[in-house]
Amino acid sequence: MARSLRIREMTPRDHDAAVDLGRALPEFFNDQGIAEMTADIPKERGAVAEIDGELAGFVTWTADENMGHIGWIAVSAHHHREGIGRRLIEVVENAAIAAGAPFLQVETLGESVDYEPYDRTRSFYRGVGFEDFKNEMLDNPGMPEMLTLRKRL
Ligand SMILES: CC(C)(COP(=O)(O)OP(=O)(O)OC[C@H]1O[C@@H](n2cnc3c(N)ncnc32)[C@H](O)[C@@H]1OP(=O)(O)O)[C@@H](O)C(=O)NCCC(=O)NCCS
Repeated sequence: MARSLRIREMTPRDHDAAVDLGRALPEFFNDQGIAEMTADIPKERGAVAEIDGELAGFVTWTADENMGHIGWIAVSAHHHREGIGRRLIEVVENAAIAAGAPFLQVETLGESVDYEPYDRTRSFYRGVGFEDFKNEMLDNPGMPEMLTLRKRL
């Protein structure tokens, strides 16, 4: 049966389901990450992807004339590599362009940390047009190296 993918604006009624989706990806989001996600989601703009009415992914962002910034993005593991993340990034790009932002920025785990799941995450960002912008070493056991990527709009 053909599935129906719908991308729409996130509403407050989606917040709990979005955090649950994040919680179901423990390779990517530890307890601290989930706590930060829970706090950030209500403060940011967001979009959700639904497949046959079920939440399959979400993204949150902020955007102004200085830059667009991706807060959180996650797609359910059952639906990785189906193009949903790319569609969600397109929504953010359009919103950031509308806000007059010259580029979109995101931070993720740097590659000096030998941890395969985030190899996939970095491949995703690079695959949808982001380029490495800077690397920083942090005093944070959850993120000892932070990679900042940017996509010019
Ligand atoms: C990162 C994530 C959001 C990507 O979503 P997705 O729907 O799986 O990605 P897409 O299918 O849209 O991929 C778009 C492109 O990214 C690249 N890409 C995505 N996953 C990849 C992988 N595992 N390996 C190599 N390239 C990959 C490819 O270029 C892909 O295009 P293609 O399939 O036409 O080759 C998703 O994998 C996820 O939820 N990961 C866990 C949470 C996470 O890491 N969030 C970000 C924290 S900073």
